[in-house]
Amino acid sequence: MFIKKEIKNQIGILTIDRPDALNAMNPDILKEMDQAVKGMIADESVGVIILTGAGEKAFIAGADIKVMQQLDKRAALEFGKLGQEVTMTIEDSPKPVIAAVNGFALGGGCEIALSCHLRFVSENAIFAQPEVKLGLIPGWGGTQRLPRIVGKGNAIELIIGGHMINADEAHRIGLANKVFPLNDLLEESMKFAKIILGNGPNCIAESLHCINESAGHSLIDGLNMEVDSFSQLFETDETTEGLTAFVEKRKANFR
Ligand code: CAA
Repeated sequence: MFIKKEIKNQIGILTIDRPDALNAMNPDILKEMDQAVKGMIADESVGVIILTGAGEKAFIAGADIKVMQQLDKRAALEFGKLGQEVTMTIEDSPKPVIAAVNGFALGGGCEIALSCHLRFVSENAIFAQPEVKLGLIPGWGGTQRLPRIVGKGNAIELIIGGHMINADEAHRIGLANKVFPLNDLLEESMKFAKIILGNGPNCIAESLHCINESAGHSLIDGLNMEVDSFSQLFETDETTEGLTAFVEKRKANFR
């Protein structure tokens, strides 16, 4: 089991706990997270969900690169769709999901944070969509949700640059809602959850539904397009080189 579950004062807290891989997500953890979020949605004693990472270093350091290194196109399509399903479970939740980002939120980790309704982040938080450095593109919704949250220009800069940004920059571009000292992050997230809990649950659910719909109906089309491109790459030398270079702890040689 990689996800710890706790309920405190109507707040469901899910903590991804895989410290040896900086909370990187493999298929088992993705399935566990999907079930855990659905469990909190179904639990009548829960009104708000907080998603965070164990430890002081990482929220989620991305999709598991060692798993991806072994994937062919078909398996990559499945892996991409599984990650996208989890992000849809989170985004479609009628109960607000707050990402308490306590460190690295990279690649799939950033994409899971993007699917949450709010991103409260610690001062040491680091965001990136570094897929292009691995011979990949984002596969769990980054190309579709990032522009909707930070604007097309900022999203393009992050996705084709692949570089990391700190909490202040994430806040400046609207990726982070609020920034707190690491030690206060969970408490401050719970304080805001308490404010939400004072508001009408149906109104909140309807607000979230309408806001999600405001982005248009093309998200699913966009996700399908994205996951097709993501999986196609697994037939290219560039992707093999990018994933292998990471595992061999060397810089990738793409050209
Ligand atoms: N997958 C698998 N293992 C990972 C991982 C990942 N995404 N991120 C970190 N780890 C592992 C490392 O391999 C290492 O394990 P070993 O000790 O067994 O070698 C352990 O976690 C600790 O990591 P580091 O020693 O690298 O720690 P660091 O402090 O030196 O560096 C880091 C931290 C900058 C986050 C670095 O680990 C890193 O760059 N990780 C990869 C981040 C990344 O590229 N994520 C995006 C993945 S692509 C993706 O997510 C696709 C998608 O859209 C679905």
